[in-house]
Amino acid sequence: MTTLRLNASIPADIARAAALLRAGELVAMPTETVYGLAANALAPAAVAKIFAAKGRPQDNPLIVHVAEASQALPLVKAFPFTAQRLADAFWPGPLTFILQREGHVPKIVSAGLSTLALRVPAHPAARALLREANVPLAAPSANRSGSPSPTLASHVLNDLNGKIAAVLDAGPCAVGIESTVLDLTSEIPLLLRPGGISAEQLEKVLGQPVAISPAIAHAIENDAPTPSPGMKYKHYAPRAELTLVQGGLQAFIAYAEQEQPDGLLVFDADVSTVNCQLSTVNCLGYGDSPEEQARRLFARLREIDELGWRTALVRCPAKEGLGLGVYNRLLRASAFREVSV
Ligand code: TXA
Ligand code: MG
Repeated sequence: MTTLRLNASIPADIARAAALLRAGELVAMPTETVYGLAANALAPAAVAKIFAAKGRPQDNPLIVHVAEASQALPLVKAFPFTAQRLADAFWPGPLTFILQREGHVPKIVSAGLSTLALRVPAHPAARALLREANVPLAAPSANRSGSPSPTLASHVLNDLNGKIAAVLDAGPCAVGIESTVLDLTSEIPLLLRPGGISAEQLEKVLGQPVAISPAIAHAIENDAPTPSPGMKYKHYAPRAELTLVQGGLQAFIAYAEQEQPDGLLVFDADVSTVNCQLSTVNCLGYGDSPEEQARRLFARLREIDELGWRTALVRCPAKEGLGLGVYNRLLRASAFREVSV
């Protein structure tokens, strides 16, 4: 199949993408977090194509996207008050709720689970597409399973060209890491994946702490039960072997001198110091603020492979706010190789 490259700023292209979705085809769509690989969530055969195109494990459930919060209600058994408050504050936006799935939503969407992941994306092109397609869209990130999520249409094509009907190009994604996944099926909200909305932001609106799944910052055993199946897979990983290094800049430089990796991924503010002191090692920056790091991380991970690095040391980001999401993605990209210096 030839993958069409459509332009999100052209209304006829949005209409074309919507028609493909209604016909049961796959379309990669821009969202404010990362590009998603969309299919009609109410058509099991279309949803099955997502798993095939991505090489996604059959037990990893998908997020369903709708244009308005009101369209989420019929898809779940109940929309609790907590969900309503958070939706008022953060939808449209990078926040996904786990709620009890209503019976008419095909099981394959949530990989057989009784629950369903739901979000209203903020990107105007995603919302225009949802309105025009007029069906809920199941959409995981539009990458090959296991590789870094796509924040550009070219990333989508590198992974899925020829396997999907179209990609709707809207340029780079503003947030850069995926949505926050919050389980609202029990009394205390449980953070399953840190993302575009921070735990601190959630707590401020709720006026109560959210529980943080231990799997966010730790490896989980292969046979342990997981609240969010996606967390057990190796994720976001470049081919290069990454090691996440905690500690100050001078200790980082000394460690790099000793280890002699092919390259270093550091904060932008570190680059000139590193280049002066370690002129033989390649060095890339991935931003200084958590927001900038989130926006640029996945593109940098892809670049590391393009440069052919086999080993790289990464300066550990701050773990607060959006930084917890950046840390979580880096921990998985490095297969939990983490050292303190
Ligand atoms: O920002 C995002 O969330 C992007 C864009 C495209 O919206 N989507 C995305 O989807 O990141 P995906 O499939 O790459 O990640 C979905 C995560 C996985 O970790 C999955 O296991 C979890 O959400 N998930 C989905 N349904 C779930 C459910 N019913 N219970 C628990 N976890 C669920
Ligand atoms: Mg993904």
